[in-house]
Amino acid sequence: MPFCYLNFPSARDDLLADVLAGLAACPKSIPPKYFYDEAGCQLFEAICRQPEYALCRIEQALMASRLGDIAAATGGVDCIVEPGAGDCMKVRRLLEVLRPSQLVVMDIAGNALATAAEKLAVDYPGVAITAIGMDFVHDLEAAAPHFSSGRRLVYYPGSSIGNFSPAEVAGLLARFRKLAGDNGLLLIGFDLKKDPELLHRAYNDAAGVTAAFNLNLLARLNRELGADFDLSRFRHYAFYNPVEGRIEMHLVSLEDQLVHVSGKGFQFNSGETLHTENSYKFRCDEFSKIAKTAGWDLSGEWEKDGFGVQLYA
Ligand SMILES: C[S@@+](CC[C@H](N)C(=O)[O-])C[C@H]1O[C@@H](n2cnc3c(N)ncnc32)[C@H](O)[C@@H]1O
Repeated sequence: MPFCYLNFPSARDDLLADVLAGLAACPKSIPPKYFYDEAGCQLFEAICRQPEYALCRIEQALMASRLGDIAAATGGVDCIVEPGAGDCMKVRRLLEVLRPSQLVVMDIAGNALATAAEKLAVDYPGVAITAIGMDFVHDLEAAAPHFSSGRRLVYYPGSSIGNFSPAEVAGLLARFRKLAGDNGLLLIGFDLKKDPELLHRAYNDAAGVTAAFNLNLLARLNRELGADFDLSRFRHYAFYNPVEGRIEMHLVSLEDQLVHVSGKGFQFNSGETLHTENSYKFRCDEFSKIAKTAGWDLSGEWEKDGFGVQLYA
């Protein structure tokens, strides 16, 4: 079966523009999609192996134990679409049980995606695989011509949806609805609200891998934009904000300092934060209410140890 890799217009220009705008804002922020250069992708995989970050392992265990029920609830699909597919490991299970004729995977980390998708193509020769290096938040609709006809399932695991605010979730799910079509499906995994201490430990692992992941963002800006961040003068700081229902990840400046990016100077005061990520946590009923506003009806729900997977039609 054919394997095809497409690279949509590079996100490189966006990186510079978004970083300059984010550093000029108050409070300073940089979108989390920029974590994922080559080093960032590897660090994310290492985070998933940390004892404190159980999210990935629990989701995998849940999917493994309920796969038959989930597959039966879908009623069969012809095409699986996975935005932000990363290392493409999670979709393997679905390919085995749903046996679609096409898989479309998308990720902003195009090179890592291409490598992972090529391995999939070898292991699943019966599936036509299209990998697209793209920012799906910008360009989702531009991917539509690459889907075959037939019933589509949008698969969005890993609690990646938690990077979006509830209002943004509603907007993104509405776009997934259009992409899936009238008879399409959505299978989505998200982290549930739980003991803040557990959440706190998950984003502050003892080995410092999440801290390295967060700081790698500055290293990336040094590498790709010629910035002059001194990583030893910033501290990873992550905490659960129970009012907003989200983990917030920040890089806090340890002193007054001036940093340059692409010839522009940005002042950081001691204690000032650069906000790098939100990871919203949901209750199942909260999430299905948002999904309903985006045109999705809940048709299946599975839960394990603080992680939820829902199927929508
Ligand atoms: C937290 S990882 C999850 C990877 C995988 N889905 C999983 O569950 O293991 C998020 C992935 O989404 C990708 N990503 C984040 N924002 C994106 C965007 N706007 N467009 C495309 N890919 C994006 C990242 O490069 C990364 O591979």
